[in-house]
Amino acid sequence: MTQNSEFRTPNPIPYGRQNITQEDIAAVVETLQSDFLTQGPKVAEFENAFADYVGAKYAVAVANGTAALHLCTMALGVNENSRVITTPITFVASANCVRYCGGTVEFADIDPATALLDIDKVRAMLQSKPKGYYNGIIPVDFAGNPVNLEAFRKLADEYGLWIIEDACHAPGGYFTDSHGKKQLCGNGNYADLAIFSFHPVKHIATGEGGMITTNSEELYKKLLLYRTHGITRDPDLLEENHGGWYMEMQELGYNYRIPDMLCALGVSQLKRADAGLERRKEIAANYDKAFAETPGIELLSTSPEALKGEDTGHAYHLYIIKVQDRKGLYDFLREHNIFAQVHYIPAHTMPYYRSLGYRKGDFPVAEHYYSECLSLPMYPTLTDEEQVFVIDKVKEFVSR
Ligand SMILES: Cc1ncc(COP(=O)(O)O)c(C=O)c1O
Repeated sequence: MTQNSEFRTPNPIPYGRQNITQEDIAAVVETLQSDFLTQGPKVAEFENAFADYVGAKYAVAVANGTAALHLCTMALGVNENSRVITTPITFVASANCVRYCGGTVEFADIDPATALLDIDKVRAMLQSKPKGYYNGIIPVDFAGNPVNLEAFRKLADEYGLWIIEDACHAPGGYFTDSHGKKQLCGNGNYADLAIFSFHPVKHIATGEGGMITTNSEELYKKLLLYRTHGITRDPDLLEENHGGWYMEMQELGYNYRIPDMLCALGVSQLKRADAGLERRKEIAANYDKAFAETPGIELLSTSPEALKGEDTGHAYHLYIIKVQDRKGLYDFLREHNIFAQVHYIPAHTMPYYRSLGYRKGDFPVAEHYYSECLSLPMYPTLTDEEQVFVIDKVKEFVSR
């Protein structure tokens, strides 16, 4: 990166943004001119391409990531008697999906080094109750940093729990298992189900959109049913059959379908997913280098391997730094047209979860993390010049 002290940002620099090309636009227009606005051939094409991308057997495209989570908790049978463990440092949907089915959300604190769900805390919770007390775990590949699902699976199996991997931040990310093998986020080798979002700031953008991946045929079939009102036309499943028009609503499902034109956009975006991921890694390496030795800035989960420029499997949805005067830096950057963001306000401190009995102070590691974290601009079209400008402004603030 070349330093250009004359550079002034002409446009606001957000923390994340989509990248829509002429090919993307052409793909959507082509679908608009086709016979299908809702469920057409692009849905299956997107599902198949996405399943291939993450290395899973099955994929189900849905209206958004939250709908994906809801279908997962439904398919796993969450109900009023269920207790499900998740992290407070996530977008609230990771927890809300348990509530949609009437279950209880059981937060566990985070690992201070990574801000990921702390497996030791989860283990301690499981050990403190009789087997069967908890039903499932929803770990989140927070910021794009993949959770070690091999370790979570081992623990979950000891206690008979299912796992939903919230991989919204990490398509293309991977962790390395105990045999040295790369395990792609959402590949279904360890989690029962995994979910993704295609919200504009994510790696693949369809506006609204989501995907569920799994290797379980049984869960896959349930998801298909629940995505469309619980209605089936499959002659093998029908209890009766009155003729060609006949269908049956066999379960209480929803309309969580994603339209064909958004899937066309998804297919087109997916073709550039690897290039986008490479650019994210480049941007992260630039930040790492710039801030590694800067007093007053702590990097979140940047390992020695990352600092040496080695690929760690991190998908860098977000690039997070920790600073003491976080509000000061946030406001200072805004004055310079840089729109950093905070990920996340701990879910248990939200008024809704407080109304269910959670209190500030319940998860001190998460709350301390929240007091310092700031997500800097991170998206493939961020230019080198813009990034230098961001780095300069951050350094200017912390050196004051
Ligand atoms: C970790 C996480 N889980 C779930 C969601 C929900 O996805 P959506 O906004 O597509 O409903 C998001 C995205 O906003 C997210 O970041």
